[in-house]
Order: sequence, then C-alpha cells, then structure tokens
Amino acid sequence: MAAPLQNPTPQADVGELVVRARGLRKRYGDTEVVCGVDLDVRRGECFGLLGPNGAGKTTTLRMLLGQTPPSDGELQVLGHPVPEQARQARNRIGVVPQMDNLDPDFTVRENLFTYARYFGLDGPEVQQRVDRLLEFAQLDGRSRAQIQALSGGMKRRLSLARALVNEPDLVVLDEPSTGLDPQARQHIWQRLNALVEQGRTLILTTHYMEEAERLCDRLAIIDHGAIIACDTPRRLIAEHIEPHVIELRGHDIGRWQEEGAALADRAERVGDTLLFYTRDPEPLLAALGANPEQRYWHRPAGLEDVFLRLTGHELRD
Ligand SMILES: Nc1ncnc2c1ncn2[C@@H]1O[C@H](COP(=O)(O)OP(=O)(O)OP(=O)(O)O)[C@@H](O)[C@H]1O
Ligand SMILES: [Mg+2]
Repeated sequence: MAAPLQNPTPQADVGELVVRARGLRKRYGDTEVVCGVDLDVRRGECFGLLGPNGAGKTTTLRMLLGQTPPSDGELQVLGHPVPEQARQARNRIGVVPQMDNLDPDFTVRENLFTYARYFGLDGPEVQQRVDRLLEFAQLDGRSRAQIQALSGGMKRRLSLARALVNEPDLVVLDEPSTGLDPQARQHIWQRLNALVEQGRTLILTTHYMEEAERLCDRLAIIDHGAIIACDTPRRLIAEHIEPHVIELRGHDIGRWQEEGAALADRAERVGDTLLFYTRDPEPLLAALGANPEQRYWHRPAGLEDVFLRLTGHELRD
C-alpha cells in the first residue's frame, strides 16, 4: 500500500512541481528499501529528506537521478518521466553525491572542465563559468591544487561547484555538510541559500537537524523506506511535540521520573536522560528550582525531538 501523501499539491499547482513521485518503490532481492513513496517538490523550494541510516534517502535520490531504476511507481523530474527520459532531466540537474567522487588525477580547475565536457560544454564561456564557480566556492586561490591536497571542506565545496557547471534548475545534495567543521558548514549554508535566492530548487538530505531547520522550506521524514511526515519545519514541530522540553541528566534522576511526569505532559527516559515535554513548563521548573543541586536544561522543542519521536531512539546501523 502506498504511504499516505501528507500534503498533496493542489491540481492547479502540479505544473510547478520539479519532482512528482507516486508509489515509488525499490527492491533489492527480497528486501524492499523504498516502499511506496509519494513526493512533491515544488519549484524554488529547498526540500529536505531526513531519516535514520538506511532509511532509503540515497536510494530515493538515485531513482530521481536515473541512477537506479525504480521497481515500481511513477516518477517525473523537471517534467520528464524517469527513468525513460532521465538523460534529458539530468541535463538540468546538479548533483552533490554522498561520497565525494572528484577525479584525483586532475586539479581543482580541471575537475570542473572535465565535468563541463560531460554536458557537452566547452569554449571561452565555460572558462568564465568555471572562474565564477571557483569564486563562488571560495576556491579561486586553489584552482591548480591536486584533489589530495584539499581539506574535506574544500572537497565538498568543489563538489558543489561541479554540480553547478551545467547551471542546473534542480540541485540534489546528499549530506552536503557531513563531516565538516562549523566554519565549513556555515559556508555551505550560505552558498545553498544563495542558490535558492537565484530561484533554483534544492533537494538535500542531512542528519543535522539544525541544518534542516535553517535551510529547508519543507521536509519529509523517511523511515524504513516510507515517508512518515512531510511539512514545514515549524509545522512539524508544532504538530508532533509540546513546545517546551526540560532535560535532566545524571545518576540520581530516578527520583524525578514520577514527580516530573506528573508535572509535564509527557515524559521519556533515554539512558541516563529524562526528557519532559510540556505546554506549560512552570510547575516542573518551580519544583526543580526548589532543588538547587539538580541540574537541568530547559529548551524549546526542535526538529530533533520530532525526529526521535517519529523514528525512535534505537540505533539503526
Ligand atoms: N545496491 C544495493 N544493493 C542492496 N542493498 C542496497 C543497495 N543500496 C542500498 N541498499 C540498502 O538499502 C537501504 C537503504 O539505503 P540508503 O543508502 O538509501 O539509505 P540512506 O537513508 O541513504 O542511509 P544513510 O543515512 O546511512 O546514508 C539500506 O538497507 C541499504 O543497505
Ligand atoms: Mg545515504
């Protein structure tokens, strides 16, 4: 059975869809890893795909890109049926894969040229475009460097620059900032925001909830190959989680388990952490305030709370 579509696009807006998937499935042998995904990505939005390890994010993206055929379902990308017209769609898509696959035999600049030729692009105009992209990725000082000499952040930026060589309408990024330090991540975020401002559509996967919350207009949470929620970050938080979270950590939290649960809307214990979710934090804060030795952390609910509530706390690898 297909997963329920969380917010179907009104019929009048279907022409504005950059991706439209219905009942998308992928089986490897006896195992179904994408299990009936319905997905609408609208022109000009930054759309995020979140999910635990092995949820099916990369497989879904690979089907959109025509890199692996769906086992079942309908798929349209930039108006082209995929995989039948994947090549036409791919000409207007830029891809940053989960693992950098830059060519180690070429320099930074040569990597961009080689990729441009793959799209049949050549000539002085491409020289200028490559210069602009090197500047955009702040790699203009490293254009002659070998790939091995680049840091992880530089490689990621070069992958992004390479994805833009064909001036794509849609940019697909699989974990663009995994493994990067905060400076490099901030830099990638600025670049991705700039792309959205230029009117491009972005689809990205990430394990960083802060990244998803900051960048994405809408998000789908995928688990075990099915979309279990899809909305704006704010609406997901408002719909699934009480607005206040109070966390207690340590070996002596046991005494709060009952008292806290009575004062909050919902309580959860994960290892040595007690989490209280509540619409009104005052009663629990007052009780905690009367015990100055008890450390606690009061914070607004976020996407990570939604993610853990919907996908659970068990490890998935
Ligand atoms: N070529 C393949 N052959 C067999 N199984 C595969 C293949 N590619 C992916 N899988 C399986 O499909 C499932 C989904 O994998 P996928 O890479 O799409 O997950 P993901 O959500 O991108 O995870 P991660 O966050 O770890 O990148 C996993 O169980 C994976 O082992
Ligand atoms: Mg993946």
